[in-house]
Formats: sequence, structure tokens, C-alpha cells
Amino acid sequence: MAKHHRALGVARTLRPVQPVTLVRPHAAARAARFFVEKFPGRTLYAVKANPSPDLLQILWDNGVTHYDVASIGEVRLVARTLPEATLCFMHPVKAEEAIAEAYFTHGVRTFSLDTIEELEKIVRATKGADDLTLCVRIRVSSELSKLSLASKFGAGPGETKALLFAARQAADTLGICFHVGSQAMSPDAYGQAMERVRMAIVEAAVTVDVIDVGGGFPSAYPGMEPPPLERYFETIHRAFESLPISYSAELWAEPGRALCAEYSSLIVRVEKRRGDELYINDGAYGALFDAAHVAWRFPVTLLREHDSRAKDVGFSFYGPTCDDLDHMAGPFDLPADVDTGDYIEVGMLGAYGSAMRTAFNGFGTDETIEVTDEPMATLYAGLEDEADSGNVVRLGARRG
Ligand SMILES: Cc1ncc(COP(=O)(O)O)c(C=O)c1O
Repeated sequence: MAKHHRALGVARTLRPVQPVTLVRPHAAARAARFFVEKFPGRTLYAVKANPSPDLLQILWDNGVTHYDVASIGEVRLVARTLPEATLCFMHPVKAEEAIAEAYFTHGVRTFSLDTIEELEKIVRATKGADDLTLCVRIRVSSELSKLSLASKFGAGPGETKALLFAARQAADTLGICFHVGSQAMSPDAYGQAMERVRMAIVEAAVTVDVIDVGGGFPSAYPGMEPPPLERYFETIHRAFESLPISYSAELWAEPGRALCAEYSSLIVRVEKRRGDELYINDGAYGALFDAAHVAWRFPVTLLREHDSRAKDVGFSFYGPTCDDLDHMAGPFDLPADVDTGDYIEVGMLGAYGSAMRTAFNGFGTDETIEVTDEPMATLYAGLEDEADSGNVVRLGARRG
């Protein structure tokens, strides 16, 4: 992989016609070490956030040994890339064939479920195995998070008692898991969910061996600056310690976003300007899926040799395809004189960015370059000081 120091150097020397993904291995390594050292339990990386084999290797090299996989494709990918990793199949609705292949071919022993039907599927597919870790997913609120995960999965209050009881009979190790929604903006999201866990345990009166608090740990984006991650960990630790579970019970988490958001960014080129709308060469069908579909505001910076003296104004973007919905409302704050031919770096795209890219309409490329500077924002600042932070932007207020 080609290496550069900073995005500006890439734009200046290569003048790329296609979007270019920039990766920052040091940022992913730092996030992994942070979780491994500070989360008061086991860290499972949620592969869906970014399945890049390079990233998987970086996380492994920095102490992440367990991986939350959600499809047989992810099972195969991680088994191939990290043969010694422990895989946990945490999608509550799986094909029976996928469960069987995961169990018999790839040694997967941990599965999640939220219905009796899924439990029966797992028991059938594994031929009544007696070495299963079964995690019952319970439904919790997403109201303190930016992206809800409260509708699709999770056993409701009236269902958990029977399900926990049945899963206890089939499991060697019984867990309870949940997901508070992605980009949880307050540690209370986990505090409240743990209360639901407590009620479920008390009601079912079963021995629970694992509490898995799922993903949802935030990263930093414009207008979304969360409290320090340590506060989330403290809340979770306190709640875990007060649950009616045995001393040997384990605490797990499945961070996706928080481990990889800082890992990559994207250089795009402006192909046309129409008022405060910029037509750029990546969009709704590319790495900017979330910017278009859930109006996510990513940080942006203009890559010019000499800084513009114009004040920042808010722009919206159009992506390269012929669809009207290839539109990103933003606002993305850039100097007022930005124009056709300019390059822009879109930051914090390591999570749910390149993972979402398609080749629709003939657009989309795989060019990736490693850079050594800092991501545009970080929740891990001050932990290590080895990288250049000249390109870190202020996320809150507009510059001007
Ligand atoms: C079961 C499960 N675990 C973990 C994650 C990762 O979530 P996040 O990226 O918000 O940390 C997801 C994401 O949707 C998920 O569905």
C-alpha cells in the first residue's frame, strides 16, 4: 500500500480523479489498546462496522481476540484472516445452514437469539451440542443514541422469562445481550439497559454467566461530541457489579464504530458547484452512505496548498450517480470560495463508510493510501502523542 504523511500531500501529488480512501493504522491500533486496557471486561470487535482484513489484523495485533460476526460471510472472512480468533455469531436471526457451518467448520460456539424458534434452530443445526454459549438478546431503548436498533431485534419484557429459561436448558454458558443503538450519546443508555437486564434475571431466576452490553460506543462527529469513553465504562462496570449474577460472570462489549471510525477518511474532488451545492465524486452509494441516508454529518476539510481566507459556509453535497437521492444534506462547513477541481477530505469514515460502498452506476474505487497524521477528531487524544495533529478540525462551532 502506498504511504503518505497527510491528505494534502496525496491531493497535491496524485491529483486523484477517483475518490481515495486514507487509512490510519495507528488510530485503529490506539483505539484497540484503549478498549483492551480500559473496558472492564472482554472486547469483541463488531466486524460489520468495517470488515477490512488489514483492519482486522491491526485489531488482533493490538489485543482484540474476539470478533462479533453477523453472517456466514463474516464468519468465513475472520476465520480466514485470523485463524486463532474467537468468533461469536451475534445476529439473532440466522440461516440454519450458517449456524451448522459456523459450528462444525469454524468452531463457533457462541450464538445470540431472541426467540424460541431461533433457539430450536441452533439446537438442531448443532445436533444438540453441549458446549454452547447462548446469548439471549433483550430489547432495550435506543432513545439516547443517534441510530435506533430498538425495533428489529430483542425479546420484549413479556418474552424474556420463558426464553431465558429455555436457553438455560440448552446452554453450557448463558448470556444476556442487548444493543442500545449506535452512537450512544450518554453513558445512561447503558445504565438504563442494565436495569432491564436486572429485571429479566430476577424474573426468570436463572443463573447468567455473561452480560454482553453490545455496541453503541460513540465516536466524535460535528454536533455529536460525546463524553469520554471512560465514563461509559464506569457506568457499565458499576451496573455489572450490582447485578444478581455469580462472581465468575463475564462482561463483554461489541464495539464497532468506536474501534474503527478514526481508522479512515476519504479524499473527494469537486466536479461542479451550484450555489451552496457541491457535486463530488462519492456519495449515497459509496462511502458516504450514512451522510445521505441518515443525514450523518462528517467533518470535512478543504485540501489546498494555501489555506483559503474565505469564511466557512454550510454546503450540501451531491454524489456522482444520476439519482436525486444521491444527496447529502450536511451542512458541511467549508470556505465560501470552494470550487470545481478542489479536493476535500471527509473524515471519520472508518465505521460504516467503506463497508457500505457499491459500484452502482460505474462509480466507486478501491484505491487506498496509508497516512501517518491524526484523524480529524479523536476520542483517544492524549493517550499517545506520536502523530502530527495539524489536520485536526474543531467539530462544534463553525470556523470563520
Ligand atoms: C449485534 C451488534 N453488535 C454490535 C454492533 C456495533 O455497533 P456500534 O458500531 O454502534 O458499536 C452492531 C451494529 O449494528 C450490532 O448489530
